[in-house]
Amino acid sequence: MKCVTLFRDNDHCWQVFGQDPDKPDNVIDTNQYAVHCGGSTILLDPGGMEVFPGMMAALTREISLDQVSALFLSHQDPDIGSSLPLWRRVCGKDIKIYLPWLWSGFTAHFDRDAVFTTIPDEGMEISVGGARLRFIPAHYLHSSGNFSVYDPRARILFSGDMGAALVPLDKTGGSMFVTDFTSHVQYMDGFHRRWLGSTRARDAWVAQVSKLDIDMLAPQHGLIFKGDDVKRFLDWIAALEIGSGLAAMNR
Ligand SMILES: [Fe+2]
Ligand SMILES: [Fe+2]
Repeated sequence: MKCVTLFRDNDHCWQVFGQDPDKPDNVIDTNQYAVHCGGSTILLDPGGMEVFPGMMAALTREISLDQVSALFLSHQDPDIGSSLPLWRRVCGKDIKIYLPWLWSGFTAHFDRDAVFTTIPDEGMEISVGGARLRFIPAHYLHSSGNFSVYDPRARILFSGDMGAALVPLDKTGGSMFVTDFTSHVQYMDGFHRRWLGSTRARDAWVAQVSKLDIDMLAPQHGLIFKGDDVKRFLDWIAALEIGSGLAAMNR
């Protein structure tokens, strides 16, 4: 699995892990993020159980597992956090697990012994080894309890499934970043039209994140937007017609 450093300022560092050539083809590709600071690490959407061996191998090339102090699950999907019991087995016992309060009873189906620190609907701010991370509400996008994560110092927004794209490995150009926004749209268009259903939620999220200083918008699938492509993505999603699944119900 590939590992790319997105930001580094002294001991404060963001890394993305993904594009694993050894991943089975029928398992959707995901990006896992690690934020390191002050000797602590939080994993953002640590991934599904199928990617756990590759992810653990890639992570332990960078840090030792006893540095992992927290996991964050943006929502309940299996590709986000079905690896939870495996991480709990290999990391320290007092690892913190942040997730939307709405999903705690459901996520317990992955791991009934996990103790969750639940995030209220309004979001919250946490510190990881001195790095401040803000959980920003992204409800109904696509999950009814869902959060993005903003780091004001790194100016990175982890956007979960917002901005997700299904890019074939041989079309990435070997990069983790969007290099041609117009041609990238084909890989994210169908996903957003179908998985997003609420224009009110979409508009509220775009209004919130447009106020932030963002150098990189980092989704859980596909390529990362940086520089002018961040604004391009926000303008594109703001204008997109969503809820395509309704067509099958209105016949
Ligand atoms: Fe999802
Ligand atoms: Fe996802």
